[in-house]
Amino acid sequence: MFDAKEFIDNSMKEIKSIVKESRVISACSGGVDSTVTTYLVHKAVGKNLIAVFIDDGLRREGEPEFVVETLKSLDIKTKYVDAKVAFFDALRGKTDAEEKRKAFRDMFYKTLGKAAKEEKIAFIAQGTIKADVIETVKGIKSQHNVLQQIGIDPEVYGYKILEPLRELFKPEVRKVARELGLPKEISERMPFPGPALSLRVLGEVTPEKVAIVRKATEIVEEETKELGTFQNFAVLHNDKATGIKNGARLYGNIITVRIVESEDAVTAKFSRVPYEKLAKISERITKEIPSVVRCLYDVTDKPPSTIEFE
Ligand code: XMP
Repeated sequence: MFDAKEFIDNSMKEIKSIVKESRVISACSGGVDSTVTTYLVHKAVGKNLIAVFIDDGLRREGEPEFVVETLKSLDIKTKYVDAKVAFFDALRGKTDAEEKRKAFRDMFYKTLGKAAKEEKIAFIAQGTIKADVIETVKGIKSQHNVLQQIGIDPEVYGYKILEPLRELFKPEVRKVARELGLPKEISERMPFPGPALSLRVLGEVTPEKVAIVRKATEIVEEETKELGTFQNFAVLHNDKATGIKNGARLYGNIITVRIVESEDAVTAKFSRVPYEKLAKISERITKEIPSVVRCLYDVTDKPPSTIEFE
């Protein structure tokens, strides 16, 4: 049986003994993994930690404000980095899923490395969990936060890595979050991938496409709050379909809604959501987003699909 309290005690001891008097930076996206990591390190090294929120322009509606406010409310020294333009530049012209991940990852570490240099830090803390390690080692996909396993030496970027959650699965991370007394919006937060909405815009990522999928995501999340499912989101397709808007033919965008049940994201089942719920989501998406003419529901499990489309 996993004992969250014992994990926290041991982990704090370990962090203290590794870090000593050095300074640590932690990139916090607001997800449960990175927030637990940030808070654990904060508890272990106090003022020697600086949390960084990198605004890559790919976050969900209201997320940057929420994360910065949450960190401040936890008394964590926080830096907001506006890197929206740099990320969109890095993603321009990239259409292949792995190429997009790589572009995201490179820009992420470049941005974080710059902040780390400014803050004169020696360690970077990150919220890698066991599932990330397994999938990266298996070669299913390169998780952006697993450096050593994919042969990138963090020292090249000029710092050492701390990964206090690397042996935990998601349900255990949530237990740690609850034990730490983090707010419910964090401990029960839906998983959201590091490369954020860039994985949910199929093909090239542009600010305009991200705005469409951001709005669709907001609608899906609002309409599915009560379902208690593992992950609920929207994906914008790279191709178009014919529809009718305002009485005229429109060759417009396609959105797929994906709602899955899972324990640990290693396997997943598509959720048997009532048709009325799906109809409501589809109506709202096609009404509230002018360019969308078609809304689909994904009825594939993992495997053979992955949870994300990219
Ligand atoms: P897949 O799509 O592989 O996703 O079934 C499994 C879980 O991991 C999330 N995911 C990611 N998280 N960086 C992350 O931090 C990534 O590159 C990444 N890709 C997928 C996904 O949302 C799901 O919860």
